[in-house]
Amino acid sequence: MSAPIRAKINIVYYSTYTHVQKLAEGLKRGAERVANVDVNILQVAETLPEEVLAKMGAPAKPENVPVATPDDLVSADGILLGFPTRFGMVPAQMKAFLDSTGGLWATGALRGKQAGLFFSTNTQHGGQETTAFTLLPYLAHQGLQYVPFGYGHPAMQKNTEVIGSSPYGAGIIAGVEGDSPSKTELEIAEAQGEYFAKQVLIRVLGEKAAEQQ
Ligand SMILES: Cc1cc2nc3c(=O)[nH]c(=O)nc-3n(C[C@H](O)[C@H](O)[C@H](O)COP(=O)(O)O)c2cc1C
Repeated sequence: MSAPIRAKINIVYYSTYTHVQKLAEGLKRGAERVANVDVNILQVAETLPEEVLAKMGAPAKPENVPVATPDDLVSADGILLGFPTRFGMVPAQMKAFLDSTGGLWATGALRGKQAGLFFSTNTQHGGQETTAFTLLPYLAHQGLQYVPFGYGHPAMQKNTEVIGSSPYGAGIIAGVEGDSPSKTELEIAEAQGEYFAKQVLIRVLGEKAAEQQ
């Protein structure tokens, strides 16, 4: 019997204060529930000087998470991009990484791959939808197939708890105090990771089947 076909997912994030990093770990746990899927977490390079980060009270970046390069997008079947909001938009650090992928655009290296998004805001109305929205043109220009999460977890239909997330993906309301992400936010992240992994595996299997027709 031949070895099972596997799909590879790379989760690429930027996080100043670790909220998005924790969300990335939640997505990884969820994606790993799907058999025959390999999942890696990578961080994009910081662009702010050390003295600015110190003034912002930002902790050191984790040393055990590799820094992403454009090749990490090419080698994956599915890409999950995570980032905190900056004025309702994608932060410069993630933008700088994406802006380094012009060569991939030129060769169409990402066309047909799938992508999903997750994010963090400090407040309820600080950009749980717009932050993701500002990244959609990138996906379109690269020919990446956006896999929105929709209302993929029951908690997203309820108003009994203040939680992050939107149909664009899993999210956190970071807040200024308390534990964040909450248990519910992590459950949503895991559900998105699992859903995304299934969608990517289905596409990879479908492509192989089409090749063999
Ligand atoms: C320059 C700047 C702009 C920000 N703009 C917003 C904003 O528009 N809305 C909001 O809710 N939070 C805003 N924040 C808060 C961050 O989104 C919050 O710190 C982040 O979501 C925490 O995620 P992290 O721990 O992964 O960095 C801003 C933070 C900075 C430093």
